[in-house]
Amino acid sequence: MRVLVTGGAGYIGSHIVRLLEKTGENVIVYDNLVTGHQAAVKNSTFVNGDIFDSELLAATIKKYDITSVIHFAAYSLVGVSMVKPQEYYHNNVVGTLNLLDVMLANGVKQLVFSSTAAVYGEPENSPITEDMPQNPTNVYGRTKLIMENAMADYSRSYGLKYIALRYFNACGADDAGDIGEDHSPETHLIPLVLKACMGKTPGLKIFGDDYPTHDGTCVRDYIHVNDLAQAHLLALKALASGHESAVYNLGNGNGFSVKEIIEAAEAVTGLTAPKEMALRRAGDPAALVASSVKIRQDLGWQPEYTDINKLIATAWRWHQDNPNGFGDKSC
Ligand code: UFG
Repeated sequence: MRVLVTGGAGYIGSHIVRLLEKTGENVIVYDNLVTGHQAAVKNSTFVNGDIFDSELLAATIKKYDITSVIHFAAYSLVGVSMVKPQEYYHNNVVGTLNLLDVMLANGVKQLVFSSTAAVYGEPENSPITEDMPQNPTNVYGRTKLIMENAMADYSRSYGLKYIALRYFNACGADDAGDIGEDHSPETHLIPLVLKACMGKTPGLKIFGDDYPTHDGTCVRDYIHVNDLAQAHLLALKALASGHESAVYNLGNGNGFSVKEIIEAAEAVTGLTAPKEMALRRAGDPAALVASSVKIRQDLGWQPEYTDINKLIATAWRWHQDNPNGFGDKSC
């Protein structure tokens, strides 16, 4: 396979790139470095490009004779999407449609797409299975659901074969400790707790303790980024051997509340995170926990990092070794 990875310099993208290279695939990283990091691209061929640049995209696909695409180049923050919807619709919908146009015009019909648990909104039952209603409560989830629907239509009409992976809460870092999560600004819970433990942020705000969950704080299903990576590799291989288009959840199947994550992080680090209660964050569903039975059965996916403490420990190692992240953007 010759794989174009859009957003391959980002957090999840860089971990998938590493796995693909380890397994001997040819990988081209295509990233505009707006949120990605040049330093996260280690040995791969790198194209500094934007998904709106149709000419450069087409030239890259032709030059490297690309057979499949993994598309990470999108915005992914629930909170920001609620205050900047235009940016999210533009990048995640218009940008992805542009990528699809260029792919189809150049005969590339295999796509692994980063989708999200946010497509479900407030689920009726838990754990969530792929056939449950999709009623996103935030703009980010809506942009991803729009693209899932568009891909289904393109699949029927133009022969696109895609696998959409609905990630629950990606976290952790590669055991090598040289790539990890570095967003600017950081909004995700686990890195923020670890930064608070390190004294790098004034304090952690717990967004709401009046949710209908066991301790009142939001419950999420945390999945290690390398387990996500394995799923992408399986999806790519499945498409290459003729698998039909499909949608899969990716989570561990265990829910942890915000308070439980803070306790686990404090246990892993041996430090205390200064914290305070705050109002709910707009767009947050109370609880999102995955059933990943479908991808386990269809593609044989098996997560390795199922212990929340071990999972947080990999993130902790990255933060300790790289207190300023990749050092190229202000944290
Ligand atoms: N939270 C806090 N304080 C913070 C940051 C987060 O209390 O400072 C809470 C949030 O309100 C939420 C939980 O911690 O309840 C997790 O928040 P994150 O921002 O870490 O992650 P999200 O659940 O909002 O979103 C993540 C990805 C999305 C994906 C979603 C799927 O960013 O792309 O998981 O569950 F859609």
